[in-house]
Amino acid sequence: MLLINKENIYILGIESSCDDTSASIIHNGKVLSNITATQVDHEKYGGVVPELASRQHNTHIAVVVKEALDKAFITAKDLSAIAVTAGPGLMGSLLVGVSFAKSLAFGLQIPIIGVHHMHAHILAHFLQEPTPAFPFICLTVSGGHTQLVKVNAYNDMNILGSTIDDAAGEAFDKTGKMMGLPYPAGPIIDRMAEKGKPNISFSKSKMDGYDFSFSGFKTSVLYYLQAEVKKDSNYIEHNINDLCASIQHGIIAMLTEKLIKVVNDTGIKRVAIAGGVSANKGLRSELQKLASLYGWELFIPDFQYCTDNAAMIGISGYFKYLDGIFDDQQLVANPRLQF
Ligand code: KG4
Ligand code: ZN
Repeated sequence: MLLINKENIYILGIESSCDDTSASIIHNGKVLSNITATQVDHEKYGGVVPELASRQHNTHIAVVVKEALDKAFITAKDLSAIAVTAGPGLMGSLLVGVSFAKSLAFGLQIPIIGVHHMHAHILAHFLQEPTPAFPFICLTVSGGHTQLVKVNAYNDMNILGSTIDDAAGEAFDKTGKMMGLPYPAGPIIDRMAEKGKPNISFSKSKMDGYDFSFSGFKTSVLYYLQAEVKKDSNYIEHNINDLCASIQHGIIAMLTEKLIKVVNDTGIKRVAIAGGVSANKGLRSELQKLASLYGWELFIPDFQYCTDNAAMIGISGYFKYLDGIFDDQQLVANPRLQF
């Protein structure tokens, strides 16, 4: 039987769901270290290659965990539990993190805690001050997900709306690819948009309720580019900043339309954003404007906690630890883990 210490809690968080191998130490809810090895090989293939990603995780994981422990000035023997992303994500990538975490937890005879990657993006808000009070609404926008979530407590949240096709991050990455930008195009579009004007209007989907759809928008960008390039083969090169500003403006408009609707319908004016796309400067400033217009209390994570990181896994593990929610050696990696 495991002895659970609730006084001096050290959680090792491990994240390996996609192409970043990350490890973090959380002590009583505070970050002591957060180390990430980012894989660059995928750039030349225009997207994450699952087989390459899992091999790289294998190479990096022990080194990254050791560095996280060293930077926190602790050893593995000090750990209270290990939290690891169990899904969703790429099967091969998740397997590396889950297998490593299970072996280490077994060796140390400490609990293992499986964490949902999207819950963790939301709970990243508790890595910094000020923290949102419950309940709050979180717009979660990553490379694989776009969701509007009502967060009732650390371990109690429900989805109000989500994308029926592409995620917001994919809309950035895929339209960027159409313009010849490298993967991931989201941060590049963000930078170029600052120098351009949103003077091109692409068609936006009209979805009922709180769901999103980005496929029509993507097709509209594709047809527009094809038509313009036919007339002038240098069109993209000459107009790249305005194209980026217009694409970004369109994606932000689709996101904020649904967010405003949810806030109005629920009456919950505490609003947060999470996930890789929440690093987008255009989205962040548009939300600031909406917050002052409608009197929202707005929570935006530090840049380091927007994209994938293990600190968010560690803090999620910490809240599960406090609530006594543990897994065991039967924990499996699940690429389509339910929210
Ligand atoms: O949350 P994340 O790091 O990984 C997933 O869980 O998917 O999100 C990655 C996504 C990519 O699609 C990337 O292009 C997008 O986040 N992203 C951005 C920005 N930074 C990352 N999109 C727009 N603007 C950014 N600054
Ligand atoms: Zn993510």
